[in-house]
Amino acid sequence: MPTGSDNPLVRSAGPAIVEVSDLVFRYRGQTRDALALNHLRVGAGERLFVHGPSGGGKSTLMSLLAGVLIAQQARVLLLGTDWRSLGSSARDRRRGDHVGYLFQQFNLLTWLPVLDNVCLPCRFSARRAARAASRSGSVERDAHSWLAAFDLAPDLWEQPAGALSVGEQQRVAAARALIGAPELLLADEPTSALDTDRRDEFMARLLAACQEAGSALVFVSHDRSLEPRFDCSLALGTHTDPGRARSSFVSRSAEAHSPAGTSS
Ligand SMILES: Nc1ncnc2c1ncn2[C@@H]1O[C@H](COP(=O)(O)OP(=O)(O)OP(=O)(O)O)[C@@H](O)[C@H]1O
Ligand SMILES: [Mg+2]
Repeated sequence: MPTGSDNPLVRSAGPAIVEVSDLVFRYRGQTRDALALNHLRVGAGERLFVHGPSGGGKSTLMSLLAGVLIAQQARVLLLGTDWRSLGSSARDRRRGDHVGYLFQQFNLLTWLPVLDNVCLPCRFSARRAARAASRSGSVERDAHSWLAAFDLAPDLWEQPAGALSVGEQQRVAAARALIGAPELLLADEPTSALDTDRRDEFMARLLAACQEAGSALVFVSHDRSLEPRFDCSLALGTHTDPGRARSSFVSRSAEAHSPAGTSS
């Protein structure tokens, strides 16, 4: 199966942020695998689109990349470190330092003002706080700049997050995920509650913000019309034959240079 690592065009994309090999994951007590994936590599600043049917393992993959779930038999590396080699508090610290997470349900603290929600990752990670302060002069000023990047009106910044509309909360969640410029941003169906116009605007802002932060993006969506905006894509759970790998990888640069660059 051609993968990111087999393709020299993808390999040249910069240092690996995420690398996965021979991943099979089954939840405890289940009779079938939630996810099987031969190989995946996401380079610095690269944008990967992940799609597939409901139950195909997309959210499971996100949890494995973030070190929330651990596959004991597989190598899942973040910035060259295997999640299996860390204890649970070291995992929490590493995740806080290097991973921004944008959930479908946002997971904002609804009673907390917007600005405090955005600054939260910097309270848990000195590294992200230092990066935010060096970018904008202070963590708070960096939070302002990310909220402005997502076009959230300043009169909402002191409001409790729960008082905002769904679309506004999603922009707060995006600012929170990007503050302190984590090397990896994981976004799990963040556009599913938006109409087409809002979705397009949000996508444009999110991709620009990732570029500004230098963050690699792994983005899950059912909406295949978004796929051309990404460098490469991964289909999960698309094969029903249990004897076959349940994933396929397509790189945009591979497609452009070799029509045979698609696999299954
Ligand atoms: N905590 C859990 N315990 C046991 N099985 C689980 C758990 N979470 C997910 N699964 C199972 O793992 C498989 C993959 O689930 P996952 O949530 O990763 O799919 P998904 O592709 O994100 O689906 P969706 O598009 O509906 O969000 C499913 O069969 C699901 O039932
Ligand atoms: Mg899911």
